[in-house]
Amino acid sequence: MKIDEVKEKGSKYLFQNYGRIDLCFDHGEGMYLYDLDGRKYLDLVAGIAVNSIGYSHPKWVNAIQKKASELVHVSNLYQVKEQADAAEAIASITPKGLDHTLFVNSGAEANEGSMKVAVRYTGKRKILSALNSFHGRTAGALGATGQTKYQDTFQTLISDCFDYFDYDSFESVKSMVDKDTAAVIVEPIQGEGGVRTASAEFFKTVRDVCTDRGALMIVDEVQTGMGRTGRWLGIDNFNVIPDIISLAKALGGGVPVGAVVTTDEISSVMTPGTHGTTFGGTPLVCTAVSATIDVMKEEDLVQNSHDVGKYLKDRVSKIDSDEIVDVRGYGLMIGIEMRSKASDFQKYCRDNGILINVCHGNTVRLIPPLIMKTSDADIFVETLDRFLN
Ligand SMILES: Cc1ncc(COP(=O)(O)O)c(C=O)c1O
Repeated sequence: MKIDEVKEKGSKYLFQNYGRIDLCFDHGEGMYLYDLDGRKYLDLVAGIAVNSIGYSHPKWVNAIQKKASELVHVSNLYQVKEQADAAEAIASITPKGLDHTLFVNSGAEANEGSMKVAVRYTGKRKILSALNSFHGRTAGALGATGQTKYQDTFQTLISDCFDYFDYDSFESVKSMVDKDTAAVIVEPIQGEGGVRTASAEFFKTVRDVCTDRGALMIVDEVQTGMGRTGRWLGIDNFNVIPDIISLAKALGGGVPVGAVVTTDEISSVMTPGTHGTTFGGTPLVCTAVSATIDVMKEEDLVQNSHDVGKYLKDRVSKIDSDEIVDVRGYGLMIGIEMRSKASDFQKYCRDNGILINVCHGNTVRLIPPLIMKTSDADIFVETLDRFLN
């Protein structure tokens, strides 16, 4: 099939809610994607921070192929051994005590679950989140998303329990958390919001204020989790321990899966019937989760994310050009804010066999597979250099 046929059929049968790029891929291997004509692309997007162990990792492929031939889905009516294994694997990478997991199917659903847990545990009603945040598109997650452009035509679905503080402003958080606050939900780095980071003091203040006033601290690690920032969790960069963690994206190495992770005590309020999902934690996706975490440990990908991320960020920071306004991020989650040419650069990259993402106007977002090598980083930096000169 040719891309024009794909486009024509898609325009006939699919919702047109995505502004899709004119590329269609056939398969991927390691850091590379191959389009329908066999053209190869160095992928620095990783399916929006999902394919952390690269494409078609043999260990991951073998594990899910075997599981697919045995048992894909049974529901949560029964004990699911792959869920228990995957939850144990998650507990091995989260802070001590945060060792109870509820499996869901996406990032938005993970945040919905985290907020339900907080409301039930505290018996309070208000949820606070940051301006410019992104927490997903389902009604509750959309309510927490502090950007009106996503909410505008759906106001009717958004609860009045939500309110918004200024990201990275501890005065703002301090002034808003009160005795009615069930939770503060916050991203360690705002991904969709343009790879914006906040200070350690800010996260420490959120932690302290929540503890003082009886609210729970939820960190949305959907994008920053699973080694993306050079630590297992984004919040680990700030030495703060939250009450609840939302995970998704890279958790299953490419299969749709999300998770709510919290303590035994907090999780215990979710008694049978309080929450659930038909697909959450199928044998297939949980096998993928365990295989992904195994591969990440065996290949030391969290350290690689830290090292190659630092190398890449340092090299880009040394480029002397008026077009580059700022270079920021942690590990392999890097934002390069450009003056005006981010979209032109994205196209230039594509023409030169590299995939990058542009978010929040003029920020180039690099969120590659965590298997990236310094030689891959060199290819990107040389392309950026050529574009700027
Ligand atoms: C921080 C954050 N939270 C939640 C979501 C929503 O995840 P999903 O698209 O899987 O629902 C995203 C997606 O980009 C995200 O970056």
